[in-house]
This record gives sequence, C-alpha cells and structure tokens, in this order.
Amino acid sequence: MPGVNDIVWQALATHRAKVAKTSLVELFDGDPDRAARYCIEGAGLRLDYSKNLVTDETLNLFSRLIDANALPQRVQEMIEGERVNVTERRQALHTLLRTRPNRVPEPIVDLGTDVATVLERVDRISGDIRAKRWRGHSDAPITDIVHLGIGGSFLGPQMVTTALENVRRSSIRTHYVANVDGHHIDGVLKNLSQKSTLVVIASKTFTTQETLLNAETTRAWLLEKMEVADLENHLIAVSANTRAAMDFGVAEENVLPMWDWVGGRFSLWSAVGIPIAIAYGFKTFRAVLDGAAAMDAHFEEAPFPENIPMMLALLGIWHINFHNAESHAIIPYDHGLRLLPNHLQQLDMESNGKSVNTQGRPVAYPTGPIVWGDEGTNGQHAFHQLLHQGKRFVPIDFILPLRPNHDRIEHHDWLVANCLAQIRALMAGQPAPRDDRAAAHSSIPGNRPSNLITMDKLTPETLGALIAMYEHKVFCQATIWHINPFDQFGVELGKQIGKSIYS
Ligand code: F6P
Repeated sequence: MPGVNDIVWQALATHRAKVAKTSLVELFDGDPDRAARYCIEGAGLRLDYSKNLVTDETLNLFSRLIDANALPQRVQEMIEGERVNVTERRQALHTLLRTRPNRVPEPIVDLGTDVATVLERVDRISGDIRAKRWRGHSDAPITDIVHLGIGGSFLGPQMVTTALENVRRSSIRTHYVANVDGHHIDGVLKNLSQKSTLVVIASKTFTTQETLLNAETTRAWLLEKMEVADLENHLIAVSANTRAAMDFGVAEENVLPMWDWVGGRFSLWSAVGIPIAIAYGFKTFRAVLDGAAAMDAHFEEAPFPENIPMMLALLGIWHINFHNAESHAIIPYDHGLRLLPNHLQQLDMESNGKSVNTQGRPVAYPTGPIVWGDEGTNGQHAFHQLLHQGKRFVPIDFILPLRPNHDRIEHHDWLVANCLAQIRALMAGQPAPRDDRAAAHSSIPGNRPSNLITMDKLTPETLGALIAMYEHKVFCQATIWHINPFDQFGVELGKQIGKSIYS
C-alpha cells in the first residue's frame, strides 16, 4: 500500500495489537451505549456492528483509510459512468439499471433511456404472459418458465425468485437450469408440457457452453411437439449478443438486450431478472429495483461511519488484513434467503478473487475472502461447531427479518431466539466448570465477531437493498485493495481446457 495508505495501514496494524488486549465482553462492559452507538440504518436495513473488535479509534482509522483512497469520489465515478472496469475499459453501471428515469446522472442519460426501453419491454412481456394474452402452441396459456443460464445469468434471478416465494403469490412456476449435467435439465423437462412452457435463455455473451447445450436440448424437446415456426412463442433470450441469439432461433422481438457495462454477477437488475417479473408481476420486480436504488442513494450520500456498505467493507478489511480471516460466513435466518450465500459467493469471489492490482502488479496482502454460508437454524446443527470452537477465525453476517411473512409466531420467536443466541455465544463464550474433567473440551472461547443485519420484514424492497448493499461492500473493498472487481479472466483457462479435452 503506497503513500498515505501505508501510514494508515501501519497505524491499523499497531492498533490491532492494542485491541487484541481487550475483548468484546470488556468493550460492552466499558460502554453501556455500545449497542446503540454501533448501529447504523439505511434503505430499510439496520446494521448492528457492535459485536466486532472495534473502538472509536478503529473507526477513526477506517475513516482515514477511506479518505486515503478517495472512496466517495470512486463511488461517484462508478455511478456516473466512468470506465472503472479498467482492464476491459468498460463502465460498471448496475446502479443505472435500477435508477428511476428522473434520477439518471447527466453524463449517462442516453444509457438511461435504453434501460427504460428494455424495462418497458419486460413489463409488457411479463404482463402478457401473466394475463394469458401470450399463448403457447395450440393456444395454451404459459404455466411454466424454464430459465437457462449460469453464473450471474442464473444465481441472482433464482435467488430473488426463491426469496419472494413467501412474500408474493405466483400462478406461474419458474424452473432454473444452470448445470451442464443432463440430470438437471432432464429432471425439469420431464415434468413439463411443451405447449405451456416458455424458455428464457439468459447469457450475456451467448457463448457459454453449459447454457447453449441446455438451450439446444430444450429446443429439441420443444420440437418434439411443435414446428420451428411455433418456437416464437416459447423462446425468449436475454443477451448482449443479439445476433447469436437470433441465429439460435429466437425471434428478434423476443431478444432482450443487455450491455457490456453490466457484469454478469450484477445482471439480475437487467432483463435477466425477467422471470421475477413473470412470476410475481412487474410491479414486484420494480419494487426490488427500487429497494436497490434506495441502497444506492444511501451508499452515495451517507457519510462514514453512517454508511452501511462502507462499514461492512472496512470491517471485512479489518478481519482479512489485520486478523488473518480467510473466509466470511453469511447466515440468513430466513428460509427464503437460503440461496443468498450462493449469490454472494459469485459476487464477492469472482469480483475480488484477484492477486494483481489495477496496474497489473502483484499485491502483497490478502484480498477477497472465501464466502460461504447457509440458512439458520440449519447450520447450527452442522458447521457452527467450528465457528464456536474451531481454530479458524470466521467473521459472520447474521441476517434477520424481524417479522415473518407467515402467522406461525412460535416458529418465528424460536428463529429469532436462535439467531440472537448464536451471536451471544460467539461473543461471550463460556468457561468450563472447574470440576468438569472434560473442561478443555467444553469451554467456548468466545470473542468471535459478527454483524447483525436486520430489516422489519423481507419485502421486495428490503431484498433489493440487501443485495445492493453487498455489491457496494465488494466495490469498496476492491477500491481499497486497488484491484479491479469487474473482470474475471481467471475463469477462462478452465473453459479452454474443457473444450480441448471434450474434442
Ligand atoms: O464464466 C464466468 C462467467 O463469465 C460469469 O462471469 C458469468 O456470470 C457467467 O459466466 C455466465 O456468462 P454468460 O451470461 O455470458 O453466459
């Protein structure tokens, strides 16, 4: 880390030795207001970061690190359309995808118009399908959507569709197929009828082998019951490669464009999210976008230490670079959010799994963590043992909607109690009773940090805000590590070798 960064980095290292002499319990004992003071809010989310080994002095150093890296300025540059993806010389404008037309930044007004046009088409197509105006072969209404895509063209929409299952009703079933493993596509198609199935092929490049093979298999399956001319009402594509989608046989008016300035892992906000609109209605999709836009505004406007994504980013850097954390666990206490860890795994690991800086020089410090997790309470009976007593230092984000989308209050009260109990146990630990012969085995060290992210309820808006929050966290960390979060050259080699082994 050069220049001012060096000085702040060194100060953080010195400070780390100081806080190592204290503990979370001592910090709480010494400051009765700690829980209230170390809590920030924005876009319907609340971050309680009090259970991290940080003090006011740490926050002060975080703030200096933010200044040393001109973070607010970098945020502005990204949102206003500078080519922040320096290796590919591209913009990274996922924020634009959710910006309401009257709030589009001046320098990118034209792109905002393109986005609005595509959203109108998503609105119209999803509306027609839901209202049964869009008919399949032999005039059948569409009952099932098969979404084909992989990576960002799959994880985001699948996660959002799943998360909203208990929030909104849907009369149309959505099925996602990503894997090239034939069991997957087989398992889905065997239960469907061609005439009432609409296939969405989502691929930014339209060259991804897994997606194209699944698309060919699905087209052949459709053609078992219809003629090529009938495919028009059964195939939609979302791609930046319109030509390839049309060559595949998708009608021009059914190809929804995306742009090279949308990274795959940020694409759920584009027409890639069309299954969300088809399943729950365009209004719901718009509400997810609005929630994300509210988080964008918070990210742009809230100064540190009130800024949630910035705080999460700095806490992550504190853990990774100063406490040697190698992984980061995401544990949502909400069944609907069970796929969030998968989505965040791609978002974070594909973005920040980098070893050279933006100048192409090797970095001498750890960058993106291994992101993993599962829904609570399931993990408590599986991997939490390691979190409580293992040798690894694993910072955790607990995510908890305070009110459920069901009426089974006893279930929800238990869910909340379990989540809070885990946080308490990780922090406070427990000494073994003196007369216990197995003392060494039963003592829990404690002093293990976690964040608690809460929202009143899981809604389309809070879901959108939650996802955007993590996108911005990843961007902030990349900025401070001086790496480019928007490319992913590392995934290419395996694809090439796979092709030559196949042939
Ligand atoms: O191989 C990685 C990757 O390029 C991801 O970045 C992307 O989300 C995924 O593959 C799918 O790519 P596409 O949308 O072009 O099919």
